Amino acid sequence: MIISASTDYRAAAQRKLPPFLFHYIDGGAYAEYTLRRNVEDLAEIALRQRVLKNMSELSLETRLFDETLSMPVALAPVGLTGMYARRGEVQAAQAAAAKGIPFTLSTVSVCPIEEVAPTLDRPMWFQLYVLKDRGFMKSVLERAKAAGVTTLVFTVDMPTPGARYRDAHSGMSGPNAAARRILQAVTHPAWAWDVGLFGRPHDLGNISTYRGHPTSLSDYIGWLSANFDPSISWKDLEWIREFWQGPMVIKGILDPNDAKDAVKFGADGIVVSNHGGRQLDGVLSSARALPDIADAVKGNLKILADSGIRNGLDVVRMLALGADAVMLGRAFVYALAAAGGAGVSNLLDLIEKEMRVAMILTGAKSISEISADLLVRELPPIQPEPGKKSDQAA
Ligand SMILES: Cc1cc2nc3c(=O)[nH]c(=O)nc-3n(C[C@H](O)[C@H](O)[C@H](O)COP(=O)(O)O)c2cc1C
Repeated sequence: MIISASTDYRAAAQRKLPPFLFHYIDGGAYAEYTLRRNVEDLAEIALRQRVLKNMSELSLETRLFDETLSMPVALAPVGLTGMYARRGEVQAAQAAAAKGIPFTLSTVSVCPIEEVAPTLDRPMWFQLYVLKDRGFMKSVLERAKAAGVTTLVFTVDMPTPGARYRDAHSGMSGPNAAARRILQAVTHPAWAWDVGLFGRPHDLGNISTYRGHPTSLSDYIGWLSANFDPSISWKDLEWIREFWQGPMVIKGILDPNDAKDAVKFGADGIVVSNHGGRQLDGVLSSARALPDIADAVKGNLKILADSGIRNGLDVVRMLALGADAVMLGRAFVYALAAAGGAGVSNLLDLIEKEMRVAMILTGAKSISEISADLLVRELPPIQPEPGKKSDQAA
């Protein structure tokens, strides 16, 4: 087991949440091979220890899309965050703002843009999916602009939702899902009280505001499947540019050629991501994909990376592999589910401390000094998972 604060928060989240929600967060696509590799590949990257270099002056500050960040970390867009803690998007966004880092609101958040943005003393980021309903896309971009959103994160690795079999087992979807969810809620009283009762309304806030009527959670899976658009291509992104003059970041890049296309398109940044192993199982971990992408496009746009980051060492590893900044997904969600906004604040403080230790002991005094020189060796060649071969053959 890989020990970190998010291991503890994960265990606490599992105790608190109804299983359908815990497994929705925790799970990935198919056999969850990529999900595991995201975490394990990062943990295998060895850092080069350096000593006696007078590390008394250390700066984690970084500039990204005309913003100053206290450290090169942002919270990733996570759908249904308001189901994991009471009005969870507001709590997580406030913890991020207090730490001096960006929060990214998902298209499929519980709290709408208009509920989250006014509670913050820094601009938030907004994530948009490519959807068949272009009217919704236009209107939500206008709302984001009106709410002072600075950066648009455009997620492109979900032309269709991935197959997540845990959801069918846990009651998120599948036979008798609604009845199973109710049963799970009543047997998890801390959650039922905090979120079930006082965290209402439970709907997709951004979409309900547009449609003028509630989009309930039972509509969620259906709405996603009906609205994702597999016909999307780079050309379709051009009209979005007309609506969005601010920084635009393309999330879900895993191949150097796609990264080059993002440069050609004029993106301000990319997120090297496999959606936390939730889309195509068997693709490369982000840690493996990142160095080739950085070789291809570093300096032409900002490179963010996510998938598998669980602690401050992982942040430093991603930066050493070529990222300018990272996004946290499950790491912050486990903390939020376990302990609300205070949990997210504590996690971010721990990540900062872990980064400081890593920087002091690798001799990097600032974020710009974190480079491939900090790495002892590349990742070893890809191995089949021990014991998995026979599982698959069975
Ligand atoms: C429960 C859950 C919901 C997510 N929802 C979204 C979403 O609405 N939009 C999006 O672009 N990415 C979404 N993601 C992916 C995250 O933004 C991020 O890429 C991923 O969590 C990174 O991997 P990690 O969780 O291993 O850090 C979601 C991830 C999780 C775990």
